Amino acid sequence: GGTRHVNTTSQTLAIDESAEWAALETHASSVGNTLRELFDDDERASKYTFDVGDLKVDLSKHLLTDETVDLLVDLASRCQVAERFDQMLTGDRINSTEDRSVLHTALRRRSSDTLVVDGIDVMPQIHAVLDSMARLADRVRGGDWKGFTGKAIDTVVNIGIGGSDLGPAMAVRALEPYVAHHMSFEFVSNVDPVQMTQTLRRIDPETTLFLIASKTFTTAETMANARAARSWLTGAIGDDAAVANHFVALSTNAQAVEEFGIDTRNMFEFWDWVGGRYSMDSAIGLSLMIAIGPDAFDDLLGGFRTVDNYVHETPLRSNAVVLSALLGVWYRNFLNWSAHAVLPYAQLLDRFPAYLQQLDMESNGKRVRTDGSAVGYDTGPIVWGEPGTNGQHAFYQLLHQGTSPVPCDFIGFLNPPKGYDQFHDPNAPTQHDLLFANMVAQAEALAFGRTSDEVEATESNPDLISHRTFPGNRPSTTIVARDLTPAVLGQLVAFYEHRVFVQGVVWGVNSFDQWGVELGKVLAGTVVGELVDPGADIGHDCSTNALVTMYRAAVASRQPPGQD
Ligand code: F6P
Repeated sequence: GGTRHVNTTSQTLAIDESAEWAALETHASSVGNTLRELFDDDERASKYTFDVGDLKVDLSKHLLTDETVDLLVDLASRCQVAERFDQMLTGDRINSTEDRSVLHTALRRRSSDTLVVDGIDVMPQIHAVLDSMARLADRVRGGDWKGFTGKAIDTVVNIGIGGSDLGPAMAVRALEPYVAHHMSFEFVSNVDPVQMTQTLRRIDPETTLFLIASKTFTTAETMANARAARSWLTGAIGDDAAVANHFVALSTNAQAVEEFGIDTRNMFEFWDWVGGRYSMDSAIGLSLMIAIGPDAFDDLLGGFRTVDNYVHETPLRSNAVVLSALLGVWYRNFLNWSAHAVLPYAQLLDRFPAYLQQLDMESNGKRVRTDGSAVGYDTGPIVWGEPGTNGQHAFYQLLHQGTSPVPCDFIGFLNPPKGYDQFHDPNAPTQHDLLFANMVAQAEALAFGRTSDEVEATESNPDLISHRTFPGNRPSTTIVARDLTPAVLGQLVAFYEHRVFVQGVVWGVNSFDQWGVELGKVLAGTVVGELVDPGADIGHDCSTNALVTMYRAAVASRQPPGQD
């Protein structure tokens, strides 16, 4: 928090007042072709399918023509998307409200590169931390890092929230086939004591290493969980000195780490120019590096780099990351659709939608432009999703027949993860066959639907025709890779990071601050004081006052431990 000087010297372009925006409005009111009609062109799939590293990105099932692409690219050019991307890569302070550079792309550059920011080459510090992470990871994986009682570590618990949790938690699950089999990995984020208690019940203090992951090292939930873990561990082992063997910090705040009681030699540093939701390939990724090993982690970074280079080098018009972002703008602002679904057909990606929610919604859920003026148009959509095929039996009804279309991203893999496809009936399609078939079929059903004439051909009850008709014309992207490898995961994440970036540039917002989460934190601090001190004045609105009073009464009537 805190007040900072906001640079308002350059007035942000109100993009909705531009000729490029007006041209898209006109275009939106005149496009009449349905996906069925657009697919009369047999070349459409090949024309709009792009190679992004190892990803095949099929944009053909979108409501676009060459003219749409031209107009969207004109908009992107007007917003100087390519120039802004360069500014990010080279360390300009594009996070203006916090007066910071935005350099997550530096985290995956090679050590031979040079990147001077404020007179300092940041590459040596990045690689020094990566190297010390690798040394720790090797020691833990090899059983050389011992707990206080001399036993090797077999459990790693990452305590963090938001960007200090979702990235590594998502990736450790996604890359399970690459995870060291003799170890287990836990992620505790919620301040609800249930999650910590459940975790502590299944682990052994003598063989557990806690990673306290917090950029600021002041986040209330993480600090409360870290203190709970510390008191559990020192209580179980019976010596406060055990903290040194069982606690490591991942942070930018050395002073707070030290005050907590973690030796800064056991702190893995990152920098204020790494945003929390962009930090999974910084020290915040240590749990992942221990899980998959330094070499596989390096492959992951290579995947990120592939897409960074792709976005940098590919002209806007043929740049699938940029086009995918612009399609999001097209639907949000010109067709007025408010949601975006991410549907991985991969159980291992079950936390990917949650990861993307933070990446996208915390970045572009903004109502003012960088110069502080209110936007006069919609910005970031609601992002959500679940892995297929589960979602099909839950919320896809709305995707197919609801009143407001939701553009979808389908993500699938040609091969099942190694070792996960052994058991199946030899006379039937494999489960992975079914999984992939369902993904393809859903994209097809959304795009082409089922007309009432088609329904009539098989439905004898005329009352059911309209119920069984699918309007179709609902757009989706399909992203396919051969295997879910570390490199492919890096490519996927970078794809979305830069998609979010491009949209933020078009909307003229600062995608790298998150002031909107502050108010709730401040108010929670006030309320918790009132909950624990029954004598404190409560001066809120009558609804809030009643909730505080209700909780106080419950506290007063709780039985002291041992008396229930
Ligand atoms: O409150 C939101 C937020 O600041 C996120 O942006 C961030 O990822 C999360 O909290 C955790 O922050 P920290 O890593 O400082 O504990």
